[in-house]
Amino acid sequence: MSNKVTKAIFPVAGLGTRFLPATKSVPKEIMTLVDRPLVQYAIDEARAAGIKEFIFVTSRGKNALEDYFDHAPQLEQELEAKGKDELLAVLKDTYMDSGEIAYIRQHKALGLGHAVWCARRLIGDEPFAVILPDDVIAADTPCLQQMAEAYQETGGNMVAAMEVPSDKASSYGILDVQEDMGSMVSVKGMVEKPKAGEAPSNLAVIGRYILSPKILDNLDAKTAGAGGEIQLTDAIAKEIGSPEGVYGYRFNGQRYDCGSKAGFLQATVAFGLSRDDLRDDLEAYLHEVVSARKAAQ
Ligand code: UTP
Repeated sequence: MSNKVTKAIFPVAGLGTRFLPATKSVPKEIMTLVDRPLVQYAIDEARAAGIKEFIFVTSRGKNALEDYFDHAPQLEQELEAKGKDELLAVLKDTYMDSGEIAYIRQHKALGLGHAVWCARRLIGDEPFAVILPDDVIAADTPCLQQMAEAYQETGGNMVAAMEVPSDKASSYGILDVQEDMGSMVSVKGMVEKPKAGEAPSNLAVIGRYILSPKILDNLDAKTAGAGGEIQLTDAIAKEIGSPEGVYGYRFNGQRYDCGSKAGFLQATVAFGLSRDDLRDDLEAYLHEVVSARKAAQ
């Protein structure tokens, strides 16, 4: 089997309860960092990694996502008539070619593993990537591209990994490391959301994966794990010790947990500061706010 990865699954069928009431009508993945929705960052990262087929696992109430990737002829005409060429180019960056993008529904939020399993018929018998758009990673070389390059050598199953403080380990899937080879580690165990003090390491799984189709077979059993959900981590852990094996990849880059309010706000500030058109004003404002708070203390 070739180690080239051309298909990616974007599971976006979760309820997004941490952002209620906003997510009552706006899918979390459409929320914007500066002026681009989370999902656009995910698509750009996938393209950079060589992905050609984009499979979204959606749910009721996520129509805004499908509309976002559609053409907008009326808006285009209006921008053309007004000579707004720059905006037209921005708009065209969001278009997906016909047949490049597919939507599958997960009828019930049974967990991330179940969401991935819902896409099994579109994946077939080849390795595939999974991207969680609410994990946003700022990096010189996009994270999935770093992984796809490393995957050419290893094959098997690869998860993005990042060191987290011990007191935060119980919020993540945590790797039990067999051999540490620097940017790559081989894995001898994985625990989803370990109890306090029981994490086998500080190396947490982040929302980027390159997986063998065997994972979809493992998900057939639909066994519920931590939190009563069908966990992707459990299906990957079944491949530990198999000839293909499981690897963690320590990516270069800064990850923002945009599924949480604090992470989303941090990302908004960081992405704002990285923009030439916004940096000076935003920086001045942040200084002002911090100074005023210090003076008030
Ligand atoms: P989260 O754990 O962040 O859950 O899911 P959530 O529902 O999106 O948000 P909260 O916790 O209620 O605020 C991680 C990823 O897995 C997807 C989510 O859409 C998100 O991209 N997911 C989760 C599914 O697609 N289906 C599920 O059943 C569960």
